Amino acid sequence: MTKQYNFLNSGLDDTGNWFQGNPNFEKILSSGPEHRVTLDLKKHLAAQASRIETDLDRILTDTTLAQETVRPPRLLAAMRHGALNGGKRLRPILVLECARLFGRTDEGVQQAACALELIHCYSLVHDDLPAMDDDDLRRGQPTVHKAFDEATGILAGDALLTLAFDIIAEDPVHSDPAVRLRLSRELSRAAGIGGMAGGQMLDLLSEHRDRTEEEIRQLQSMKTGALLRYACRSGAILANAGEDDVDRLTRFGEIVGLAFQLADDLLDVEASAEDMGKATGKDAEAGKATLVGLWGVEKTRNELERLSRDAEMLLGTYGSSAATLTAIAGFIVNRSN
Ligand code: IPE
Ligand code: IPE
Ligand code: MG
Ligand code: MG
Ligand code: MG
Repeated sequence: MTKQYNFLNSGLDDTGNWFQGNPNFEKILSSGPEHRVTLDLKKHLAAQASRIETDLDRILTDTTLAQETVRPPRLLAAMRHGALNGGKRLRPILVLECARLFGRTDEGVQQAACALELIHCYSLVHDDLPAMDDDDLRRGQPTVHKAFDEATGILAGDALLTLAFDIIAEDPVHSDPAVRLRLSRELSRAAGIGGMAGGQMLDLLSEHRDRTEEEIRQLQSMKTGALLRYACRSGAILANAGEDDVDRLTRFGEIVGLAFQLADDLLDVEASAEDMGKATGKDAEAGKATLVGLWGVEKTRNELERLSRDAEMLLGTYGSSAATLTAIAGFIVNRSN
């Protein structure tokens, strides 16, 4: 029987409250003046995650859009299984928070954030396929190809990916069509051959092969880094931030992206499947090229701490307005799932 994802440890409880009872996050919130967050961060993030969840639920319905014929129920059910199953929603939350930093908080940002989450969910559905990482458990539930079948898993991924580009092109995303076009192109590049999909190719080609630190950094900056980089960068673009700010947030996204995969690889070594909602201890067995494999646990932890400080320094220029973003970077470094 499939073990249910432990929502309490994940920080997302079954009422949708974020970071509730997560000791690491409690520590971050109280660990020093730089993390003394004045707003009620937990409630704020809970609200952000549940807004994303509600929007995804609304997007993934059987109501056809203009030019569509029908939405086959089985495919829709598989897409919903892959997208509405308790993910942390960190990428869309980063879009929302980066846009908020420059003063934009409306529904259009929300929509852009959902487009990115659809792509992330598609990447997980395909990543789990037998031809890729061959995983049976995701977010505490059977993976899409297990709950349905392989062909349906492939198609669910295809349809989540293409739907993302429909959503990002919609009017509310930005009043200027040129900005919507820019976001669409940037999202394509983050997800495609020179970004996530390319990184997944390099990841598979690197199994059981010796890879240098530089090569591993590159593959990780693509497979995981590209979408997180886009999350932060697009938030700034959506809010009409100046190019200097877009560059700064891009750099922040790159740091967060590297930290995120380092933490994922560390957790693959150290965490339980119950806490993670997915199998652990698989990377070494599959011969994955990871920095944890190259450096070991201790050096990886030190590097994560360094990245956390870098992220914080980078955001220092925004003062207390960036407190939430800094706390999120801290959560990524110290996360337990
Ligand atoms: C998992 O991403 C895949 C990686 C890039 C390491 P997340 O840890 O963000 O997965 P969910 O969305 O919360 O399930
Ligand atoms: C996946 O990396 C990155 C994606 C583009 C989906 P992993 O293969 O390490 O992610 P998990 O551990 O299965 O979530
Ligand atoms: Mg993988
Ligand atoms: Mg995987
Ligand atoms: Mg992993």
